[in-house]
Amino acid sequence: MPSKVFVVFGATGQQGGAVVKLLTSDPVLSQEYSVRAVVRDPSKPAAVALKNLPGCEIVQADLDDKVSLYRAFEGAHSAFLVTNSIFDEHLYEREYAQGQAAADVAVEAGLKYLIFSTLPSVRKLSSNRYTKVWQFDVKYEIEQYIRGLPISSAFIAMGCFMQNLTNALKPRPVGDGTLEIATSMPPDTKLLMIDATDISVFVAAILREPDACQGKIIHAAAELRSLDELAQTVSLATGKTTRYRQLPATAFRTFMEDMNPTFAEDSMEMLGYYQEFGCFGPNMEELVQPSIDREYGALRSVQEYVKELDF
Ligand SMILES: NC(=O)c1ccc[n+]([C@@H]2O[C@H](COP(=O)([O-])OP(=O)(O)OC[C@H]3O[C@@H](n4cnc5c(N)ncnc54)[C@H](OP(=O)(O)O)[C@@H]3O)[C@@H](O)[C@H]2O)c1
Repeated sequence: MPSKVFVVFGATGQQGGAVVKLLTSDPVLSQEYSVRAVVRDPSKPAAVALKNLPGCEIVQADLDDKVSLYRAFEGAHSAFLVTNSIFDEHLYEREYAQGQAAADVAVEAGLKYLIFSTLPSVRKLSSNRYTKVWQFDVKYEIEQYIRGLPISSAFIAMGCFMQNLTNALKPRPVGDGTLEIATSMPPDTKLLMIDATDISVFVAAILREPDACQGKIIHAAAELRSLDELAQTVSLATGKTTRYRQLPATAFRTFMEDMNPTFAEDSMEMLGYYQEFGCFGPNMEELVQPSIDREYGALRSVQEYVKELDF
């Protein structure tokens, strides 16, 4: 019987779901840990599906409701925390409060280890040039808060999700049998691509050596690809000629503002930051090299990911 209860936030989502899968299927880790998957609505099909996994219990709790978090953490040994960016005027305050509440209750409940899905501070790395990439900055601030608490912790900074190829970076048919990826970034802008579900590889690496990983950030990427190279990879994987097209920034902003003004503001700054500084700042290539070299374990390539999609 596993002796340690491991709490997983975002269990019905991409990152948390992958952590649940890891801990319920890995032959070694599943002997050491049982999973407590946190869900907001236990009747949701994605939550019900978790109940059927071996060694997995579900608990109803909400990061916006601190009292409910005591239920999630009671008697647990460690946890994986992912906070959620909701693009409205309260993004920063709401997400910071979520991270702070979870970390505080984890400490109160006596947890030994917290793994947080972090991101770097765009404000700091860009020397205040980009100050509105709240989805990054808030995670950096939560990370700093956790570092100040009496609990061991480790952090995973994920690059650009390959899953963005199904939305913001989606290759779209242009009518002549070819596909096009379009954003306002120049074609030589480099992106750090990672399958969101491969976070399990990094969580496994931390749980194999928790003491060695204490206080560390793993910078996660499977490949560093320019937008032109990304389009070429899609061509190879789909057999359909795919090109990258740089749109005028004003047109791209208007397109995004029509969807969500806060998302547009955050994202336009994020794309500017990617162009000028790179996703993890000026040292990003060095930071992601161990991940790209597969030092933590095997990762899905963009080509493998795209082969499973239908454009
Ligand atoms: N897109 C990218 O390239 C990228 C890269 C790095 C980091 N990120 C970050 O990744 C995060 C999203 O992670 P993801 O893609 O794994 O999530 P996801 O698939 O969008 O799922 C969100 C998860 O969070 C849970 N959740 C939402 N609000 C909650 C609350 N108030 N209390 C408890 N649980 C809550 C949801 O659970 P329910 O079942 O209860 O709804 C769901 O399991 C964002 O913060 C984003 O900034 C994104």
